[in-house]
Amino acid sequence: MKPLSFTHRYEPALTPDQPPVLLLHGTGGDENDLIPLGKMVAPGAALLSPRGKVLENGMPRFFRRLAEGVFDEADVKARANELADFIAEARDAYGLGAPIALGFSNGANIAAAMLMLRPETLAGAVLLRAMVPLSETPQVDLSVKRVLMLSGAMDPIIPAENASRLAASLMAAGAEVKHTILPAGHGLSQQDLSLTQNWFLNR
Ligand code: MLT
Repeated sequence: MKPLSFTHRYEPALTPDQPPVLLLHGTGGDENDLIPLGKMVAPGAALLSPRGKVLENGMPRFFRRLAEGVFDEADVKARANELADFIAEARDAYGLGAPIALGFSNGANIAAAMLMLRPETLAGAVLLRAMVPLSETPQVDLSVKRVLMLSGAMDPIIPAENASRLAASLMAAGAEVKHTILPAGHGLSQQDLSLTQNWFLNR
């Protein structure tokens, strides 16, 4: 098989009839980071876990930023398209259906950008500590896509208003969004795990 366009890990499904899960790590993570989380919240599902191609002081990310919370939007668009192309390649190579994204922080932000720019790529998404990736939301139809957004009330990186604006724009595009604000910071808490697990169970 010809190598795919992103360094990645792939874990085949153990049980059929579940959509694959696309794992998208945060800044400084890699393709190994979220595998345990994926196995915990969606046991038996196929897992596809690419490594972000942008390096910030040696730390992998999925797109360039100019400062914390200030994104290079041209790069966000180019990288969201590049990642969507990889997902199409991987679906072909591994014989997969459209995945549900499970992204943390920078990984959640690129998932939100893909929903807006290449909606056919994802069947749905869990966005853990996501913020608005593009200042202008493109016209897009997200009806029938289910999205779980979990934000932290004490998140020092993402203002509550910003996370709510993202939830509102996904809803306005027709997605079925459940947005919960947890008593947490930017890091994940036990509640993130149990809510994400329940969301996958009740899918
Ligand atoms: C981002 O750059 O995507 C967000 O600021 C979150 C982060 O990666 O720290």
